[in-house]
Amino acid sequence: MKEDSIKASLVKTRDGSFTLHHPLIGATYHSTHGAVQESMHVFIEQGLFFVAERQKQIKILEMGFGSGLNALLSRLTTESRLPKHHLFYEGIEAYPLALETIAAYPLPPELSVWQTAFMELHQSPWGQAFSWGRQMIVKKHCCQWQAFWASYTFDLIYYDAFAPSAQPELWDAASVQKLHALTHPGSVVVTYCAQGAFKRLLKATGFQVEALPGAPGKREMTRAVRL
Ligand SMILES: C[S@@+](CC[C@H](N)C(=O)[O-])C[C@H]1O[C@@H](n2cnc3c(N)ncnc32)[C@H](O)[C@@H]1O
Repeated sequence: MKEDSIKASLVKTRDGSFTLHHPLIGATYHSTHGAVQESMHVFIEQGLFFVAERQKQIKILEMGFGSGLNALLSRLTTESRLPKHHLFYEGIEAYPLALETIAAYPLPPELSVWQTAFMELHQSPWGQAFSWGRQMIVKKHCCQWQAFWASYTFDLIYYDAFAPSAQPELWDAASVQKLHALTHPGSVVVTYCAQGAFKRLLKATGFQVEALPGAPGKREMTRAVRL
């Protein structure tokens, strides 16, 4: 797949952090109620910490790598609060962001010390695993979710696709079958999305589904554990 780069515009969200607007799909990368707040709540608090309670080596797959904010929050959380954990983090992205967009993406002041690491994450080549900090190995895949495959399974999936209203094809039965194929019993899938049809598909495909309180501005989010 050709690594065309997307120039996305900045949008300030209500917690003061910024998100981006995808020019082709016409959607924002995070909740406009608060980008960092949403990522911390959905992926870190309800995903990473949940799995970290039972294991110290965690294979994470992120569908929709985007700005790399979830990867950055995973790294800083692991380094500050999970000193004995190691993450093997893979991210899938069909529309890589232009480096100039990333360079202009303002991290919140409390994350500004991570600016160099953030650029390293984005400058690293696609398709090659690399050590990113003491506790994390990262591999970014430039491909469509629909074309992604792995010969092993993941402990935790951050399912961070654009909303079903923007990209219904990423929330259909084929996508849920793929989530099943990329996980093992006990694996966890977290997403900000609480759509009923998606949750029914997860249940029908062999996941136990929990509706948890959503990030500020959203009533619910979804956590699914593979049976
Ligand atoms: C909600 S945004 C993800 C935000 C990201 N996790 C972040 O923290 O910035 C959805 C992402 O999925 C990507 N995407 C859209 N369609 C895709 C597809 N079919 N396969 C892989 N990635 C896709 C978009 O380019 C975008 O980066």
